[in-house]
Amino acid sequence: MATSFFCSDCGFETTKWSGKCPNCGSWDTLKDSGKLSSKKGLNTLLPSHPNPERIIDLQKVDISRACTNIAEFDLVLGGGIVSGMVVLIGGEPGIGKSTLMLQLSQWMGDASKKVLYCSGEESVEQIQHRSERLKIVSNNVWLLCTNDTDHIIDMINTNKPDIVIIDSIQSISLAALDSIPGSVNQLRESCNRLIRNAKQMNIPMFMVGHVTKEGMVAGPKIIEHMVDTVLYFEGELRNQYKILRAVKNRFGSTNEIGLFEMTSNGLIQVTNPNNIFMTHESQQIGTAIGCVLEGTRSFVVEVQSLATASNYGTPQRVVVGLDQKRLAMLLAVLEKNLALYLRSSDVFINLTGGIKTIDPGLDLPILAAILSSLKDQALPENSIFIGEVGLNGEIRPVPQLESRVNEAMKLGYEKIYISAFAKYKAKTKVIKLKDIKHLYSIFD
Ligand code: TYD
Ligand code: MG
Repeated sequence: MATSFFCSDCGFETTKWSGKCPNCGSWDTLKDSGKLSSKKGLNTLLPSHPNPERIIDLQKVDISRACTNIAEFDLVLGGGIVSGMVVLIGGEPGIGKSTLMLQLSQWMGDASKKVLYCSGEESVEQIQHRSERLKIVSNNVWLLCTNDTDHIIDMINTNKPDIVIIDSIQSISLAALDSIPGSVNQLRESCNRLIRNAKQMNIPMFMVGHVTKEGMVAGPKIIEHMVDTVLYFEGELRNQYKILRAVKNRFGSTNEIGLFEMTSNGLIQVTNPNNIFMTHESQQIGTAIGCVLEGTRSFVVEVQSLATASNYGTPQRVVVGLDQKRLAMLLAVLEKNLALYLRSSDVFINLTGGIKTIDPGLDLPILAAILSSLKDQALPENSIFIGEVGLNGEIRPVPQLESRVNEAMKLGYEKIYISAFAKYKAKTKVIKLKDIKHLYSIFD
């Protein structure tokens, strides 16, 4: 058996240690994986020497799904839990992963599914305490507190639950491996065996994984490759609203999000997101309303901007919930096209409600908010801005414009500003903008 080293960031494998990963360039991420197990352990149930088959001759397999009946959760999974599906739920400590998993147990228990909740992080007493708070009253929910992967697999195979939850994958290990619990090798092997078991027994499994500061599931990226679905539970820790986002899904589309609110009695789904990302009733200076598209749903958000005289040589550019580079680009477009010089102004942008997005459809409301702050003049009442801004200052159409305009109309926005280049033929009255000079003229 050879010793090998694994990069804990990208999963790169090498026989020679070095301070910097040759693959992803991260420093001090190569970890000794202990004695390597043979490659035969790889997560595959495929036959070894199959013949090619014509795709049109293949039998159609119907995917049956078990629903949690919590619409926000089912949506993220692509319509419910598929049998044998392995889901990784990543998130920062304290975001609510264990809470969500315990509640999932109750939802599935209510749907007459037998649930085995395995915890390697908390004691029976702690979980009992939490279950009381979360009102876990189903007869179908079973708890197993252990750090032993083999024992978990034994218990799955003897008790034959309909769904298994592992909280968390970093807290369990295989006694047969001599590397320490939580090491890359342990993580990989535990995952491997659990996934193989889930596929053989056709039992869906949810695994909780902690996320590092950089936003990756701690340990090698390899876990993400092994599972069918990767969900991230995200949000500001101090904000009660949390977003469950599918970043990989073999059984549904990615980028689908589900919204939850953390209350004193656990998480409740938020089916109407529009109320939570807005703060003011009337139009304020420096504020513009936009419409974000996440997965297949669109909802309205408020963009706040503050442009003030800078006290330092290098002006500050601070964004909350958005991409910093995008702001730099938008400010450059503003300077070039409107001859508005911001090099001695600090610019702050905030998306209210703790949402994070990279939707370029927010370019237009961001610029509208900055202009409003610079001019010290509020935008028209009941206005909403939907558009991307190009490098030449042109306002470009965005995907799913129709669904965004419909959302805006439903909420009673009367002045809907969109790109003049959008192929939008519906009868709704929209205001078309060609470029940012045209946007600037709103303030005249
Ligand atoms: P937890 O699920 O333990 O987070 P994770 O498993 O991701 O580390 O819970 C996180 C926070 O949620 C914790 O600070 C307490 C809070 N919380 C509530 O506000 N309401 C509740 O009903 C529960 C169970 C937890
Ligand atoms: Mg936890």
